[in-house]
Amino acid sequence: MLSKYFKPAIIKKIAAGAGTPVYIYSKAAFLKQIRSYKKAFRAADPLFCYAMKANSSAGLCALAAAEGFGADVVSGGELYRALRAGFPPGRIIFSGVGKTPEEMAYALKTGILFINAESFEEVLALERVAARLKVRAAFSLRINPDVDPHTHKFISTGKLGGKFGVSFEEAQKIYMCAAESRHLNPVGAHFHIGSQVHSAGPYALAAGRLAAFILKLASRGVNLKYADVGGGWGVKEGAEMADLAPLARAVAGVFQGTGLKLILEPGRSIAAPAGILVTRVLYRKRGGHKNFIVVDAAMNDLVRPALYGAKHPVALIGPAGGPEGVYDIVGPVCESGDFLAEAVRLREPAPGQLIAIYSAGAYGFSMSSQYNSRPRAAEALITGPAAWRLIRRRETYQDLISSEI
Ligand code: LLP
Repeated sequence: MLSKYFKPAIIKKIAAGAGTPVYIYSKAAFLKQIRSYKKAFRAADPLFCYAMKANSSAGLCALAAAEGFGADVVSGGELYRALRAGFPPGRIIFSGVGKTPEEMAYALKTGILFINAESFEEVLALERVAARLKVRAAFSLRINPDVDPHTHKFISTGKLGGKFGVSFEEAQKIYMCAAESRHLNPVGAHFHIGSQVHSAGPYALAAGRLAAFILKLASRGVNLKYADVGGGWGVKEGAEMADLAPLARAVAGVFQGTGLKLILEPGRSIAAPAGILVTRVLYRKRGGHKNFIVVDAAMNDLVRPALYGAKHPVALIGPAGGPEGVYDIVGPVCESGDFLAEAVRLREPAPGQLIAIYSAGAYGFSMSSQYNSRPRAAEALITGPAAWRLIRRRETYQDLISSEI
């Protein structure tokens, strides 16, 4: 159970000190996830590049960097954050379907490991930027392996017909062409089939296709160094991460003995179980046949329930509550889609009571916004049995307008 990392006493202390809504992370839980990856993949000794999009807060990223993880970034902004958090440039890779020439130049000047390109035109743009900077750009291609990861359609990325990657045929053309260029250095091949993938089968299929392709490429004189199998290992909301052994068997086995360095880009499975969102009950009301609990967090703080229908478990913190009932937990934002949980069975909370929303460490704060001019939440890190510190202060009204001119 995740609650062992989030004891009521410390949650109450943090809520009193930092206010609500507040994201609370557990250093112990975050490190446990990282170390499980290291243990499961010990024999393969891969480079782990933490997918910063899951949670790019410096207080957490610095922990990953100190554990020897690199970073997978998808924008100039994430690259900036990664460097500030202490990830060495040589362990940073830059993915994403539409990098601008400015972002490419930033990455090349910083000396990151490589750029994951996603189209012929993007590779040509990279060549132009590299020529202007008089460097040779190390790059990898994101290949779409045409594998169905069986997940939500918004986070399924490895089937042909999606916007991601290039086909194997297209990839071959791009590599052959790049091998002739003075400013391009093809070093890797990459896939990322999706997020919330709960079985190793799709990885085994995609890894097998990638390995065969890399071998074929070598026979044509293009020798790659890195095989990057992306992230996406699923975590059921409210649970700890599924056993990594099947994933390790599925991908590490395929590349064993090939001389290729394996890269993984886990995001959610590291951060999700390590964070909760804590909110305070404002009011209770009935609407037709439904019971609502109105809380001070909203879809701008955690959009996953509204956007993907994600079901994050919720629990009352503190008093046991009144009689049991079925409730929708909703926020103050002016939209019917603004709910954090629907039809959950709970003891009736009183106004002022705290509610914890679990598995919110990934794609929680990082997808939050100021919608309805709501300042973004604070973030706190539990560092010991009774110790915590603020890793991000709550935004102020001044923050809401500070970039307006
Ligand atoms: N690498 C690449 C190239 C990616 O696009 C992603 C996620 C990852 C790694 C990390 O995947 P993870 O291990 O976190 O599943 N906002 C959605 C998830 C979007 C994932 C996008 N790409 C959600 O809240 O469920």
